Amino acid sequence: MSRMTVRLFSRAVVAALMTAAAVPLLAQAPAPAPTPGPRPAASATIDAAKLYAARCAMCHGKLGEGTPMGRPLAAPLMNGATVEAVTEILETGIEGTPMVSFAKTLTPAQLAALAKYVAAMKR
Ligand code: HEC
Repeated sequence: MSRMTVRLFSRAVVAALMTAAAVPLLAQAPAPAPTPGPRPAASATIDAAKLYAARCAMCHGKLGEGTPMGRPLAAPLMNGATVEAVTEILETGIEGTPMVSFAKTLTPAQLAALAKYVAAMKR
């Protein structure tokens, strides 16, 4: 190979390498713009803390600490502190006590949110 040929050849190699390096950059498609998902209906978002404050706190205390009108909920519960157990109490109430059933006054979704909220209280 003559010197001239070598120079041309190496120039071609450099050019080829530069092109190869540039290809992935060019191939990178721009990230698609985020498409907004469906907004949850207002009724789908239940603020359990607000619900608790409005419906339960007067008897069970703001933080579940209890009042003279209701047992502490942020404590080991007589009927169990699972979501299932609390849901049942909310649905049936405790007969003969001020703990009434909320099955007619709250929706199943609200009961479920409240049960989850009570079950998650620190105890
Ligand atoms: C009028 C007062 C009052 C209101 C309002 C009230 N409770 Fe009660 N609740 C009580 C009383 C009193 C008891 C205990 C009944 C008993 O066993 O003697 C009780 C018991 C419970 C228990 C069972 C506790 C255990 O140890 O197993 C749960 C859970 C509970 N309430 C949750 C709630 C939630 C959640 C709300 C709001 C939706 C609520 N309560 C509203 C008075 C109330």
